[in-house]
Formats: sequence, structure tokens, C-alpha cells
Amino acid sequence: MSADDQKRISGEAAADLVESGMTVGLGTGSTAAWFVKALAARGLKDIRGVPTSEATATLARELGIPLAALDDVKSIDLTVDGADEVGPGLSLIKGGGAALLREKLVWEASSRCVVIADAAKKVDALGKFPLPIEVVRFGHVHTSWRLADIAAEFDLPPPRLRQADRGMVVTDGGNLIYDMASGVIADPAALAAALKSITGVVDHGLFLDLADEALIGTDQGVVRLAP
Ligand code: 5RP
Repeated sequence: MSADDQKRISGEAAADLVESGMTVGLGTGSTAAWFVKALAARGLKDIRGVPTSEATATLARELGIPLAALDDVKSIDLTVDGADEVGPGLSLIKGGGAALLREKLVWEASSRCVVIADAAKKVDALGKFPLPIEVVRFGHVHTSWRLADIAAEFDLPPPRLRQADRGMVVTDGGNLIYDMASGVIADPAALAAALKSITGVVDHGLFLDLADEALIGTDQGVVRLAP
């Protein structure tokens, strides 16, 4: 089974968790897109989607899913989203699609968070995928120097500004992304706290103690994991 098929079956399994009347957080990325498509295909009445990016909002609108902004809902029943790495205890690296800030805001407002992924995303330790860090534009080079100091404390290389074909990647919130490559993040909680202590850092892609379950698409079908 291809990685995309594994993403598809995990997205379809997650869509089965949604019930009529629910407010649903809609993640970002190719796996979350499969979820959004499967959710739309179910044709449930009275659901509201809270998108985690402009890209997901566009897709959901095209598929006829009614949308609400985060500030228009009191709480979110279920959020389904992809991940770049799924580590021990369902610790995650997210933000490969530069949507980590809105994703984390939506996740934190949700009663239940389900991560969906293909089998290659499951890792024994976080860190092979470069950790995305969202940084405000003003003084971002200075912020990157402070990030490099923190990286050195954790035996990690300095972060690199994410570039696309047309220059710097700019998030939906108008911020920039630095990626901190590593290998192994030995103490994700300590690194998360250190990164948040820097003024220019808006947030980072370590999602710790947020996922309630994972639905991993494998060649043998969808495997459910608990923290
Ligand atoms: C976007 C994310 C995505 O969920 C993550 O990058 C996984 O993407 P994909 O499902 O395309 O592999 O965090 O910011």
C-alpha cells in the first residue's frame, strides 16, 4: 500500500468518529485532506468545521462543509489532524505544512484530538523530522540567534529559515518558520519550554500531551494507538 493510501484509510477511519451535531477541528496537510474529503462524503447534518489553515478552509468550503471560526465556537468536540512524527506517548512533531500555530490553538480548544498518519510517521524518538518553530517577522534574525543558543544547549544544530520557491515561507498568521534539524530530541518537554521562553517565538511544532489517540494507516489496516 502506498503512503498516500495509508493516509487515506487513516483519514477515512477518523471520519467515522464524527457524529451529527459535532463541532470538528479540521487539520492541515495531505492526511487531513483525506479526512476532510471522507467527512464531506458522509453528508452529516449539522456539523461545523473549524479549519486550522486557509488551505483547509478552502478545501472544506469546496466540499460543502459548513465552517466556523475558532472564536465563534465555545468548544470543539473532536479535532482530527496529521503529524510529521508520532513518537512515544503520542508526542508529536507538527508544522511541516507551516500551520502549527492555528493547529495548536484548535487542538487546545478540543475535547478530543485524534492524530492520523501513514505508518512511516511512527518513530521511536522525535527529532528526525526538523522541528518547525514559528517566529514573528520583526527581529527574526535576532530570534534565530537566540534559537541557535538554545539549540546548542540541547546539542542540536542551529535552525534554518524555511524557504520556498518564491522566498521565505510566510504562515497564515504572517509569521516565519525556522526548522531545527536534529536527529534525536532527548528531552522534548525541556526543549518545548526553552523555545517558548524566547519572546520572538510564537510557538513550535512539539505537540506534547495533546493527542488522545492515533489512527495509523498500515498495510494491515488502521492501527489505533493510545498514549
Ligand atoms: C501541517 C502539519 C501536517 O499535519 C503535517 O505536516 C503532516 O502533513 P501530511 O499529512 O501532508 O504528511 O502539521 O502544519
